[in-house]
Amino acid sequence: MADGILAPPEDRHTMKPSLSMSGTQPWIALEGRPVCCVPKPFIEVERLSLHYGQMPAFHDVTLVINQGCITTLVGPSGCGKTSFLSSLNRLTDLIPECRLSGQIRLDGLDVLAPDTDVIHLRRRVGMVFQKPNPFPLSIRKNLEFPLREHGIRDRTRLSGTIETGLRDVGLWDEVKDRLESPALALSGGQQQRLCMARALVLSPDVLLMDEPCSALDPLSSGVVEDLIVGLRGRYTILIVTHNLAQARRIADYAAFFWIQKGTGRLIETGTAKQIFEEPHDPLTAAYVSGMRG
Ligand SMILES: Nc1ncnc2c1ncn2[C@@H]1O[C@H](COP(=O)(O)OP(=O)(O)OP(=O)(O)O)[C@@H](O)[C@H]1O
Ligand SMILES: [Mg+2]
Repeated sequence: MADGILAPPEDRHTMKPSLSMSGTQPWIALEGRPVCCVPKPFIEVERLSLHYGQMPAFHDVTLVINQGCITTLVGPSGCGKTSFLSSLNRLTDLIPECRLSGQIRLDGLDVLAPDTDVIHLRRRVGMVFQKPNPFPLSIRKNLEFPLREHGIRDRTRLSGTIETGLRDVGLWDEVKDRLESPALALSGGQQQRLCMARALVLSPDVLLMDEPCSALDPLSSGVVEDLIVGLRGRYTILIVTHNLAQARRIADYAAFFWIQKGTGRLIETGTAKQIFEEPHDPLTAAYVSGMRG
């Protein structure tokens, strides 16, 4: 694959892990991993604002997310990070009082247009939440269910995709002999990796992750963090984290939100190195140094 060119979605799952580890460690590297972080916009957010009823959650956010890169959203509690993530795949539609204005373009698609197919949009933009939320079903059914919902019925294809999804999150060796066991019997870290696999089997373009490690013990958190790094280049990843050390370690780009006049605002965006090491705005500097927030 030529430098800087991302694999088309149908090819992503054929990029096999180069390092297959047993036990609890997931693989880290990918064979033929594409060079990522060519600054090529994939999501373009323009003047986006969100209200819950009369209450503004964030206001006037303009931000570009680059393809294949890891972008982290950081900022204090209540500044609108979760609301911003949820607007990108229109999960906000599920909240009756929620209103969005502005524009979101995803690979040219007008996300907020009334005729946008939200089911298809959510297939392209998967989400992993703070608390692992596997379905109360078997491990296999957790992955089979979304695939069937999206019209994949062929048994061989289902089994192959499920195996690849579990390998992608380093779970295959841990669960291959108990695929019919309840997903809720897995450890918290394993449940979170299963939830990631559930998003990945649909071959999304974008993975939204809302504090995916915050409910995990340090060991499991490290495993999930390594996994996220291993997905760089194959997916455009947006991750919210309160763990600034983690954000520094894994992100290519960072966006810093803050609350001003009762609403979330995007204060500064740039490469993670710039935001964490040479922030331009005094608020960013105070936040990343731990003096505020
Ligand atoms: N469903 C909702 N209905 C009404 N208000 C909401 C809803 N969800 C969030 N809010 C409000 O919107 C604002 C932004 O919330 P949001 O959850 O997006 O912040 P956050 O940055 O993710 O915070 P945290 O770091 O604590 O998760 C807050 O004032 C919150 O109370
Ligand atoms: Mg949140």
